[in-house]
Amino acid sequence: MKERLEELKQEALLQVEQADTSEDLQQVKVSFLGKKGPITEVLRGMGKLSKDERPVIGQMANEVREAISEAIETKQATLEAKKLEQQLKEEKIDVTLPGRPVPTGGPHLLTKLIQDIEDLFIGMGFSVAEGPEVEQDYYNFEALNLPKDHPARDMQDSFYITNELLLRTQTSPIQARTMEKHEGRGPVKIICPGKVYRRDTDDATHSHQFTQIEGLYVDENVRMSDLKGVLNEFAKQMFGNDREIRLRPSFFPFTEPSVEMDISCKLCNGEGCSVCKGTGWIEILGAGMVHPNVLRMSGFDPEKYSGFAFGMGPERIAMLKYGIEDIRHFYTNDVRFLKQFHQA
Ligand code: DAH
Repeated sequence: MKERLEELKQEALLQVEQADTSEDLQQVKVSFLGKKGPITEVLRGMGKLSKDERPVIGQMANEVREAISEAIETKQATLEAKKLEQQLKEEKIDVTLPGRPVPTGGPHLLTKLIQDIEDLFIGMGFSVAEGPEVEQDYYNFEALNLPKDHPARDMQDSFYITNELLLRTQTSPIQARTMEKHEGRGPVKIICPGKVYRRDTDDATHSHQFTQIEGLYVDENVRMSDLKGVLNEFAKQMFGNDREIRLRPSFFPFTEPSVEMDISCKLCNGEGCSVCKGTGWIEILGAGMVHPNVLRMSGFDPEKYSGFAFGMGPERIAMLKYGIEDIRHFYTNDVRFLKQFHQA
């Protein structure tokens, strides 16, 4: 039995030695020290031994078991240390690697354009004014010289909430509201960006909701030439120094005289192409000298004060500036579209 125990010990120690992983080691532990293992078997057979032999073999069996356990524990520690070392080697962080870019958002193309236009006019001494999107009929129409029977007030064109309340159809009511606040004293020099609403069917060039920027300058001795100077500056800063502008006679109820401003077509340099429909000019905005009725209704004396106003659509400007063909792109927010206009 002594020899058997010695053999077992040697064999176990050899297997411990050869174990490469914790799993191998566990296997060795189970097969030698487990309940069904050979050492247990030896201990079970002790009943057949003589009284003298029993304690000797018992002690020896315990020693063998302990020796094997100890060898397993030592090997286990070695394996773990090795594994850790391996891990440390493999998972080394290279701090010199360039970072992975984190995708960032940015202002929407229209937001950015409106901010740029604001900055441009702030640079010419204008300040920014705002007004409510749910507007009174009085400010949206009446105070702008649009009498009750004017065709532009047709229910077809406006989203009415009650008889006296509607979603504003233009940013022009901010003119009337701001002048009223000034109580007849100039100067008033504002631009007014905001959302407007019309009962239009959405297509490539129409949207039931879009944005406008209104401009108003009221003071003593404001003239048409001032309007032309400001618009010229705007056009050059927005579209490039080589652009020409021209003013064409037009009609708006709140201005007299009224004009529409065109810029020379950049694509064909005024020769005529499909974008400018062969004319060499592209319409950008409506403008004019503030109608005396509008001044009077908002508390300004038309004998003393005069002013100019203009209104433009940022969507239209963006479409021309960037060659965007469908107004709906601004609102459907496809990131692939928006991303093209990101500036870091
Ligand atoms: N409110 C006009 C529109 O929605 C645009 C406009 C034209 C505004 C001429 C003005 C202006 O202030 O003078 O079509």
